[in-house]
Amino acid sequence: MPTPPEHRTESASAESVPTESAKHTSARPPASLPITINGKPYFHDGDPQMPLLWFLRDVLRLTGTKFGCGVGACGACTVLIDGKAARSCTTPMQTAAEHKITTIEGLETTALHPVQQAWIEEDVAQCGYCQAGQIMATVDLLHRKPKPSEEDIATLSNLCRCGTYPRIRRAVQRAAELLRNQDK
Ligand code: FES
Ligand code: FES
Repeated sequence: MPTPPEHRTESASAESVPTESAKHTSARPPASLPITINGKPYFHDGDPQMPLLWFLRDVLRLTGTKFGCGVGACGACTVLIDGKAARSCTTPMQTAAEHKITTIEGLETTALHPVQQAWIEEDVAQCGYCQAGQIMATVDLLHRKPKPSEEDIATLSNLCRCGTYPRIRRAVQRAAELLRNQDK
């Protein structure tokens, strides 16, 4: 179970719900794994091989990050680990431990992130299932490539079964523009 040292309310909230990680507490390892998620510290006492995605969705109830394929292929589960896009379905808790994780819920707390704003302006989402992952991958891309070429955008490997790729490409360019304007 997570044991947030400074967030007892959240801890109680998580502990009140039967979860996958609760099953692991009978074989509690000697050391807890510290992890920071959306700026808040937690500890994971369960199976160190449990995927980060399970911890986010089933323990913390941060369900904005989606389960798609479960094998690292689709990108629906993309989060930022120390600012870099990563597939949370194939990231074990022991790998994520001691790192800073950002999910779609933690992207911005006071206003929309420019990437989210661009997604709205370009009306990207169809069913929406893949879009949190698409947005998180784009945040990472634009951090590395503030003026992305079409080739740079093509490196985004997140899949969209609704085929929103043309709108995603436009939104990435719009988000880059918004971010550049923000920096002026
Ligand atoms: S659910 Fe993680 S890559 Fe598909
Ligand atoms: S919008 Fe439906 S899967 Fe991408």
